[in-house]
Amino acid sequence: MTQLAIIGGTGLTQLSALTILKHEKLDTPYGAPSADFLIGRLNDTDIVFLARHGNPHTIAPHKINYRANIWGLKQLGVEQVIAVAAVGGITAEMAPAHIAIPDQIIDYSYGRLHTFYEDEAVTHIDFTNPYSQELRARLISAADKAGISITPTGTYGCTQGPRLETSAEILRMERDGCDLVGMTGMPEAALAKELGIDYAAISVVANWAAGKSEGEITMEEIERHLHKGMANTAAILKTFIG
Ligand code: HPA
Repeated sequence: MTQLAIIGGTGLTQLSALTILKHEKLDTPYGAPSADFLIGRLNDTDIVFLARHGNPHTIAPHKINYRANIWGLKQLGVEQVIAVAAVGGITAEMAPAHIAIPDQIIDYSYGRLHTFYEDEAVTHIDFTNPYSQELRARLISAADKAGISITPTGTYGCTQGPRLETSAEILRMERDGCDLVGMTGMPEAALAKELGIDYAAISVVANWAAGKSEGEITMEEIERHLHKGMANTAAILKTFIG
């Protein structure tokens, strides 16, 4: 059976419905992953869970060892990854606590170790569709079955962080076609593709992106909206796995 993994982001450092059977501590040629891989069962299905920012949540987006995380999942035999991540909402539909299943990415991050192809023959993976269309379709249908209204597309812009953006940066991203802004979608998606892992994302809107609402963005606001968005995400995941 296809081995499925969930990478949890801010607001999803654990899955309460997951019965944990084993903690797998792995080392990889690229260093240590963010945390132990939790091997567990959800709705009678074996899954692997990884807390992207560590558990407790201490690793900032630009410090995550994305290569070790993806390599570790591959070592465990994972073939499909659902990546959950908090984002800022740029376009009108992407209000706080809303969920989108993005279909495109623009990468504004820099200086991250972003490929497994360092020394061998030069290799260019196809990245026309950064996310698995099949996994996306299944997530969209799970959301529908769970009765949770989501946006089934969206362009995710990945910024470097850990600071949030300026309002001018968000306006530029909007002109570029971004609907969502986050800090962890890349190089994660590309590394999964390099290793032949099917990868799709659930983007949970934590706040209006900079300049899209009155005043400053607060951590309190982010946490409040994430709480609701992550509860809906857990419901989608449960339906998906069931
Ligand atoms: N910008 C970037 N990443 C984020 C945001 C944001 O506004 N909110 C949650 N993650």
